[in-house]
Amino acid sequence: MTDVKDAPRVPAKRADKAPIPASWDYAPAPEAKDLVKIEDHYGLFIGGKFVEPISKQRYTTIDPSREEPLSEIAQAGKADVAKAVRTAREAQPRWAKLKPSERAKYLFRIARILQERAREFAVLESRNGGKPIRESRDVDLPLAAAHFFYYAGWADKLEYAFPNRKPRPVGVAGQIIPWNFPLLMLAWKIAPALAAGNTVVLKPAETTPLSALLFCDVVRQAELPPGVVNIVTGDGRTGAEIVSHPDVDKIAFTGSTEVGKAIQRALAGSGKRLTLELGGKAANIVFDDAPLDQAVEGIVNGIYFNQGHVCCAGSRLFVQESIYDTIISKLKRRMSTLRVGDPLDKNTDVGAINSKMQLDKITSLVQSGIEEGAEIYQPPCKLPERGYWFAPTVFTNVAQSYRIAQEEIFGPVLSVLTFRTPDEAVEKANNTPYGLSAGVWTEKGSRILLMASKLKAGVVWANTYNRFDPASPFGGYKESGFGREGGRHGLEPYLAFDEA
Ligand code: NAI
Ligand code: MG
Repeated sequence: MTDVKDAPRVPAKRADKAPIPASWDYAPAPEAKDLVKIEDHYGLFIGGKFVEPISKQRYTTIDPSREEPLSEIAQAGKADVAKAVRTAREAQPRWAKLKPSERAKYLFRIARILQERAREFAVLESRNGGKPIRESRDVDLPLAAAHFFYYAGWADKLEYAFPNRKPRPVGVAGQIIPWNFPLLMLAWKIAPALAAGNTVVLKPAETTPLSALLFCDVVRQAELPPGVVNIVTGDGRTGAEIVSHPDVDKIAFTGSTEVGKAIQRALAGSGKRLTLELGGKAANIVFDDAPLDQAVEGIVNGIYFNQGHVCCAGSRLFVQESIYDTIISKLKRRMSTLRVGDPLDKNTDVGAINSKMQLDKITSLVQSGIEEGAEIYQPPCKLPERGYWFAPTVFTNVAQSYRIAQEEIFGPVLSVLTFRTPDEAVEKANNTPYGLSAGVWTEKGSRILLMASKLKAGVVWANTYNRFDPASPFGGYKESGFGREGGRHGLEPYLAFDEA
């Protein structure tokens, strides 16, 4: 219910001559917190039930928008990880021997339960991670369910997906995921692994464990055989234990390039399989013939979606010189309409920064941009007093050598550069150690194809941005990692082949 007191009102006397307000004030429209029950503390999910951590250690997970504690989470140690891996190993042969169409049924069931319980998950995701409810409700949850639906469909068709290659499961997969799309990254990892007949030990990020822990309830509800999915919580130390455990056959990691490199070093020579989905510094390129208003929407969606905590975020905007002034003024106008605040409010566009650590990183990179000589713009907006917040930011007058043009900021911060010709755009866009994604805005179909063939990026969006589909493979080049998730390609890392 809308609180009448908070609704914007024009004073009665002036109502007749009041000018039309430049922007609307919105009454608060918060989603109910009690849609989801959060336990005081959680154990580790091993063998189909929650068990106390052998380590006996716990830490507190919080709501980053309020800096309020939500629950006590287990910090799994070496013995806990070993127990989870042993359990996954024991469960694997039976899971692999199930009729593939039976495995599919479990995945379909998980997908349907996620849909049924979507509101619960959306609220939890927004509370624990700080992302706007509009996004967790309309993006994270539908995509997570879609991923399970999609891979359920492949479970009994592996022979057709890889004809004459006799696919078989790899065994036990260790999966380590980040905090920007907690449930969605879980779906990206678990769905293909299970479809291919593997069992898993998954670790959510330390700041956002709650949706993975609620997912354990979905696993039980779907009556998945115990031990097929095991969830261990904890920080990087727990992740490192999974990586180094000798009985894990495959590691799938999404996170920072720094940790990705460390994992690759740790696994060298071990024979374990590895896929890495790491950082990015994507170029979003706007040509002068592009539909400019749509492009501005795409720029905003590219960098301010999920507070910019997106590996494929369009964090470097390249504008063709002839339309530079127009784009920048349209962009600033559009930025002034973004509503920053309570993640649970249905009108919020930009929520809270995920953690104090991430806020400090964004703040220091933005400071470096100012010091190196870029021009900063932030629309006027009131940030809540408690919690971790950063206003939508755009930098103009940026040189390619500045840190804000080179390093992944992983926040709502855009760096704008210019170009004159398509060749110059390609050269500048590719001038980065990363290669995850890119965007191209132009009316010309031939130019889209030309750019897509020259940009060194795993995904190139044309006249759109941040668009995902489970059928479409996603992954990077260079320091953005290797291996693909999604699509038929996403099955391959979870399969071994006895070539016919
Ligand atoms: P991170 O790479 O440390 O964390 C990602 C996951 O890896 C978490 O589950 C973490 O517990 C785990 N982890 C950490 N150290 C590990 C180790 N030695 N062995 C195994 N697992 C380990 O990322 P962090 O520190 O949260 O963020 C730092 C920066 O990384 C961000 O500012 C952002 O630039 C980037 N990042 C990129 C992501 C992407 O999707 N590409 C996701 C998260 C962060
Ligand atoms: Mg880290």
